[in-house]
Order: sequence, then structure tokens, then C-alpha cells
Amino acid sequence: MEQQYVEFKGIGKRFIGVRALHDVSFRANGGEVTALLGENGAGKSTLLKILSGAYTADEGVYEINGAEKHFATTQEAIADGVSIIYQERQLVKELTVAENIFMNMLPSNRLGVIDYAAANAEAQRIIDIFRLPIRSTDRVKELSVAHQQMVEIMKAVRRESNIIAFDEPTASLSETEINTLFSVIGHLRDEGKVILYVSHRLKELFQITDKIVVMKDGALVDTLKTSDASEKELIRLMVGRDIGDIFHHLDRAASFGGPVLEVRNISNDNISDISFTLHKGEVLGISGLVGAGRSEIVRAIFGADKLQRGEILIDGKPVKIGSPADAIRAGIGLCPEDRKDEGLVLENPIRTNISIATLGLVSKMGVIDTKMERDMSLKAIAAYNIKTHSAEKQVIELSGGNQQKVILGRWIGADLKVLILDEPTKGIDVGAKSEIYNMIIGLAKSGLGVIFISSELPEVLNICDNIIVVKEGRVSGTLAREDASEEKVLTLAM
Ligand SMILES: Nc1ncnc2c1ncn2[C@@H]1O[C@H](COP(=O)(O)OP(=O)(O)OP(=O)(O)O)[C@@H](O)[C@H]1O
Ligand SMILES: [Mg+2]
Repeated sequence: MEQQYVEFKGIGKRFIGVRALHDVSFRANGGEVTALLGENGAGKSTLLKILSGAYTADEGVYEINGAEKHFATTQEAIADGVSIIYQERQLVKELTVAENIFMNMLPSNRLGVIDYAAANAEAQRIIDIFRLPIRSTDRVKELSVAHQQMVEIMKAVRRESNIIAFDEPTASLSETEINTLFSVIGHLRDEGKVILYVSHRLKELFQITDKIVVMKDGALVDTLKTSDASEKELIRLMVGRDIGDIFHHLDRAASFGGPVLEVRNISNDNISDISFTLHKGEVLGISGLVGAGRSEIVRAIFGADKLQRGEILIDGKPVKIGSPADAIRAGIGLCPEDRKDEGLVLENPIRTNISIATLGLVSKMGVIDTKMERDMSLKAIAAYNIKTHSAEKQVIELSGGNQQKVILGRWIGADLKVLILDEPTKGIDVGAKSEIYNMIIGLAKSGLGVIFISSELPEVLNICDNIIVVKEGRVSGTLAREDASEEKVLTLAM
């Protein structure tokens, strides 16, 4: 087989008020994994969307195996062997694995009757190539997030795609699931396919990629062989300066105040008997495997899920929290993990997405004070360095990481006692991560209690004063920062 390749030549793309890509040229070869690395808003997803036919380039061309292509739709790109795996899965959860793999292309017999036996057998053949413990007849909704993602990949394999791009595929996967994904990617690479890979987790790039294309502000900065690159150099190239050890300069409070949040024996269908105390000035981590009940605990505290038993106290007084509105009134804020489902109204501007949590502050007798609303959103845009030319930009037009920053920005004007952050750094670039760490420590110093959930253990170990580890909806142990280690957390979590 001849070597496959994709070559971008001078790609440019503008949106209103922003030059998303400018003169981007590089070649990605088959049999290699090529990483795209860059800050939030650098243009990575835009480039992939151009290759997939979702956007058209304003300037430049791209070639596949020497032939110039101009995909006007994603169907055209798919027909030419290009598949993009997005972080948000595009599956029909009610249908089976085989039905999703074949989506609209189910084989049929001479009479036009769908041949499910053939579809299931072919789907199972693909599943077995990757040695996955699932059946072609399983319903997608019953699969783990990682296996759902594998179904996306198998869809691409079934179409015999030669070019497969992954846009932040690991953001909601656990460590073992990431290993499964990497073995599948390795298999595809060894078959000679062109693999493009986007992630903000530098560690992963060293595990799975051969070449790294660094982008900044829509332009290509450099292309490196992974084996020649160092983490420090990559950060310098993508951020444009040295940021040093991101955990090193955190200026944390010397001591805590009194208890601000006390949780006593709370239980519902997902969690049992959770108790802990959070102090003013404390950053408390909740750790555990994906699916252990971390988000369920904070959703219960925030009133997003109902409590069946137990008690919540703020400043020593019992509070009744039946809904998020009750929680906000009591001084509790939550940045949810899933920005699409629970966080943002994508078609609305940044301005209203930021004011939504603190509407009481920006409205007088029920009428929203637009100027105050705008000032508040501008403050958040500046504080979190949200990449936009205006507070009126629709959230859907922001890059993934910048959408996440809008969720954080919501609480900027609020009068909070407790701030809960569920995976706040998901999809966030290293420079911005370091800003978020400083913000968390700063809020704690100013007297807030902060609850911090993250799947990236180094973050939890470095940011949190205390860590509670949960397993199957229960607390399996508590560690103080001085005693905590990756090993100890994992032992309690497994
Ligand atoms: N449909 C759109 N309309 C307007 N602006 C857009 C649109 N899509 C992307 N942009 C802008 O183009 C720039 C590049 O965005 P892109 O999503 O490619 O960044 P990214 O590198 O993928 O970032 P992240 O790491 O945060 O996902 C951003 O400034 C973004 O706001
Ligand atoms: Mg992106």
C-alpha cells in the first residue's frame, strides 16, 4: 500500500472579528500519529472542521495523497475517507452498537429488507479486532463513556476511513479507558492510517504521538518530532513564554477559618452516608474513579439531585436545599462537569451565560440591568482571559476551552460561601490551567470554601488541602495534603 498522507497548504479562515487560522501548512503521514497542540482558541478544532467538510477554508488548500480536495459537506469528506471523532459523541443511544456503526447504511437483502444478522456479524468482527468486551447487539446507552467512544471509532473503521482525527478524546475517560483508546489508536496507526490527535494533556502526547504541530493564535509555530521534544519546550512554544512549574508558586493560606459547609450523612440513590466538613479558606478535593459518585455528591449538595436522607449546614445552621436556586441563596455555587448538558445556553451570548447564576445581582425588581450585566461579563472575560472580541459573541462560537472559562466566570460577581468546581480544567490549556489554580487558591484565601473535583491526580494533590476519596458512592478514606500521594489515593479509590 502506498503511504497515505494529508497536506495542508496555506490554510486561512476568518470568522467575524477573529482570524481563526492563518497560513497553516504541514503534512501528516500515514503510519504516524500527528498531534495538534495549542492554547484554547488557537485554531485546532477549526482546522479539523475544515478537513471534515464542516467549514470551508477562506485561503489555501489541502491535499489527500497528492489530490486537492474541497469538501463542502461532512458527507463528502466521509466518502473520501476522512472521519473526525469529537469529544461530544454523535451516537443514537437507544440503538444498538451495530445500528450505530452502520448508521443509515445497514446492509439489506435483494428485497430491501435490512439484514440485521449480517450487520451484527460485521460489527462484531470490528469489535473483535479491537478486543473490546462488548457485543454488537448491546444498546449504546448501556455502555461506558469509553466504549461509546469506541463505537464512534468503529464507525470510522467500518467506513474504511484512512484519515481519522481525534479532538480531545480523553477529556472524559478514566486512566484504564485511555489505555484502551491508545491501543486502538496504535492499531489504526500500524495499519498505515493518518491519525491527527488533539489534547491538552502533554503527558498523552509523549505516549501516543510521533510528531507535534504547535499552533498559536491561528498560526503554525513549529513542528517537532515527539522524541526530540520536551514538555518545557512545548509549553514555551504554545504559550509563548516560560510558565515554570505550574504548581510551584501557589500562595496558599496559612490556616483555615471555622466550618462553612457541613455535610452530614447525605444519601440518595447514587450516594450513601456522605459526611465531611469544609472550612473557610480550605480547598477540599473529591477524588475517585470516573463513575465513583464524585459528581453525584456535589449535585446533591447543590440541589440538582434530591436528597433522601441527611443534613447540610452552612455556617453552622441547617439549610434546606431542594433546588439549585436554594443552594445559590445559601451561598453555594457549582461549576458543573458537563458544559453542554448542564452549563451553557449555547445560542445565547457570553453576557447572559455569565449573568445567569447571579441574576439577583443584575436585576432590579425583576428587570435586568443590561449595563451591569455587561460590566460583569467583561470583568469575567478579563479575569479568565476568555478569547473573544465581544461579550455578545454566542457561546457556541467559542473554542471548547473558552466555553469552560465562561462557566467559571459565572461566579465572579456572586456572593458565595462555597464554590464547587467539577472538573474545571477539562479541555483547558496549560497556561489557563495555571491561572485557574491561582484563582482557586485566591478565592480560598479570601475566605471561601472550595470543593475541587478533577480526574487529573497531580492537580488534586497539589491544589487541595484535604482530599476525600470516594468509591461506589461512599467515602473510602480522607487524606491530608502532607500525607497524600498518587498511590494512596488510587489504593483508596480501587
Ligand atoms: N463558528 C464560529 N464562529 C465564530 N468564531 C468561531 C467559530 N468557530 C471558531 N471560532 C473562533 O475561532 C478561534 C479558534 O477556535 P477553535 O475552536 O479552532 O480553537 P481550539 O484550538 O480548538 O481551542 P480549544 O483548545 O479551546 O478547543 C476562536 O477564537 C473561536 O472563538
Ligand atoms: Mg477545540
